[in-house]
Amino acid sequence: MIAYRPSARFDKEAALILLTKEQIQTRQFPFADKLLREAIEGLSQARQFSGRDGEMFPLVAGKNICLVVGVGKKEKLSLTALRTTVRKAFLSPYLKKIKDVEVIVPEQRDDIVKAVIEGILIGTYAWKKYRTKDKDDTTVDDKKVFLAAAPRKIYEEAEEICAGVKLTRDLVNDNADTVTSVYVEKVIRDVVRGKKHISLEVLNKKELRQKGLGLHLAVNQGSPKEPKLVVVRYKGAPGKGDYTALVGKGLTFDTGGLNLKPSGHIETMRQDMSGAAAVVGILKNTIALNLKKNILFVCALAENAIGSESYKPGDVLRSYGGKTVEIGNTDAEGRLVLADAMAYVVKNYKLARLIDIATLTGACVVALGHDYTGVVTNEEKLFQKLRQAAEETDDRIWRLPNYPELKEAVKSPIADIKNVGFPKGAAGAITAAEFLHQFIEGTPWAHLDIAGTAFVENKERMYFGHGATGAGVRLLTHFLQYH
Ligand code: BES
Ligand code: MN
Ligand code: ZN
Repeated sequence: MIAYRPSARFDKEAALILLTKEQIQTRQFPFADKLLREAIEGLSQARQFSGRDGEMFPLVAGKNICLVVGVGKKEKLSLTALRTTVRKAFLSPYLKKIKDVEVIVPEQRDDIVKAVIEGILIGTYAWKKYRTKDKDDTTVDDKKVFLAAAPRKIYEEAEEICAGVKLTRDLVNDNADTVTSVYVEKVIRDVVRGKKHISLEVLNKKELRQKGLGLHLAVNQGSPKEPKLVVVRYKGAPGKGDYTALVGKGLTFDTGGLNLKPSGHIETMRQDMSGAAAVVGILKNTIALNLKKNILFVCALAENAIGSESYKPGDVLRSYGGKTVEIGNTDAEGRLVLADAMAYVVKNYKLARLIDIATLTGACVVALGHDYTGVVTNEEKLFQKLRQAAEETDDRIWRLPNYPELKEAVKSPIADIKNVGFPKGAAGAITAAEFLHQFIEGTPWAHLDIAGTAFVENKERMYFGHGATGAGVRLLTHFLQYH
């Protein structure tokens, strides 16, 4: 979808020219076209354009549009801001109807080119399946982009990774009654069909019963849909090393159950399978990048529905492996489904590490907001690697603590543990993590709480439009690729 050329040619309907303040001041433009250089110099002299970040000025050159866009001072160049600026330029009225566009980067540096690619592919993503099409509107899929940068493998990889992010976003954005457990399984089968190193294990209701995944079954009890635990084994390094397990929370809808969610909280709960959707996106990326690693991709799929069959507050349930759990609140369902899935893979596979990813707690949104995914881990080195991956991908994380005294929070008078923490929801994000911690048997573990980062409820945030963001996909793909 993106074509690369070592230098600018100005042979397309439109050119998007990204320039730093210094390039305007010193008149050192990354292209040779004399007329265009003079036009931009003229703009600068007339004080119409200084290269300030986000500044935009359209020029007409013959039959073509040249959209000149500022990215600010070079030394202060933020790759986040660059992605956002590229998004804004692409969505501006000037490029709306353009089909072929050449993009000229301020400097041919790998990190800059990658950020521009993401600004285009992630920044202009929009969920339009249910909107009647405006016939003049082009989406990013209708546009051909020509980047003035020498082709490199890492750019193609960046495009692949963006395709994984898109798959995740599409899965989250579509209706809960479309994206059911059956649908997710089908998408997974489509992604792995005919690919190397793959084998699949799917536990449906029957198998979940036989094997005793009592928490997972209870959460799904009020729903006519099939609960499913899908395990994709990817052996990219045959005969070598243990698996890294990625376990995603896949609540295709979370009503809260009998502890029903109120208006204002329930409307976006189709996003509650964002963890599982991220795992599917990362699976797609792993295959596209042909990673030489052993990875388990695990999707724990269920629906937390309300009805006469729903599981009940106050009940005590038996988990996989036998620990009993008192249900303090049926809306704390994610940790139940995940606990069974995690205990199942810990017991049945040799794991080097386990990373779970989940829209787990509203408390994490209170603590960190929407820009940083919360991380809880029992392994310092694993955290350092994730932190590095977060910095390199701009898929941000922030650490929250886990410590021995926290297990007091999940003690129950009538069962081994309970699924809610301290009164009044104190420390809600880390007590939920502590609940999961009870099921990993000392496996090196990191928990990613994407409740705040997976979905944009208002118009936009950074370079994400309304809806799913694909949080965790770039982070964990990078982690698997380089760490
Ligand atoms: N899926 C929710 C958490 C959530 C909240 C995700 C907002 C995305 C946005 C989770 O199942 C939940 O309901 N958690 C409860 C736990 C509580 C009952 C202990 C919460 O956070 O309120
Ligand atoms: Mn819930
Ligand atoms: Zn939930």
